Amino acid sequence: MPDTKILVLHGPNLNLLGSREPEIYGRDTLADIDARTSSLAAELGVTVEARQSNHEGELVTWIQQAGAEGFHAVVINAGAYTHTSVAVRDALSASDLPAIEVHLSNIHKREEFRRTSLISEVVVGQIAGFGPQSYLLALRAAVQLGAKDK
Ligand code: DQA
Repeated sequence: MPDTKILVLHGPNLNLLGSREPEIYGRDTLADIDARTSSLAAELGVTVEARQSNHEGELVTWIQQAGAEGFHAVVINAGAYTHTSVAVRDALSASDLPAIEVHLSNIHKREEFRRTSLISEVVVGQIAGFGPQSYLLALRAAVQLGAKDK
């Protein structure tokens, strides 16, 4: 699948990984996670591009443009926007690309407000609770979906 291109989106506060509540999110920085994701992508023979934003509208724009930019699937950790953003949900819903929802923590065993994801209904599936490994599992799934949809 040499031409498969996967877009990895990280939402708000994920730029703080490494120092942000390490007992929940671990000690790996976002750069560490992106490096592991890139190295798995190289192993799988696909291209991955990772972007982070603290801004809802920027995430929406990236989702809207992903198809035209040549991506085949989207992996998204929308951070807190998972629980609040109708705009991110609508952008994923409007996109023709398959998307996979990712969380480092298991949102279903945390505070009540984290148990609701507004995006779960419009993605192919959710991977949560495996720390940085969540991204690697999602990348493998995205490669399958992206290749299948081509
Ligand atoms: C998170 C879980 C969200 O509830 C939280 O707001 C985040 C990170 C996760 O990866 O576990 O920012 O998406």
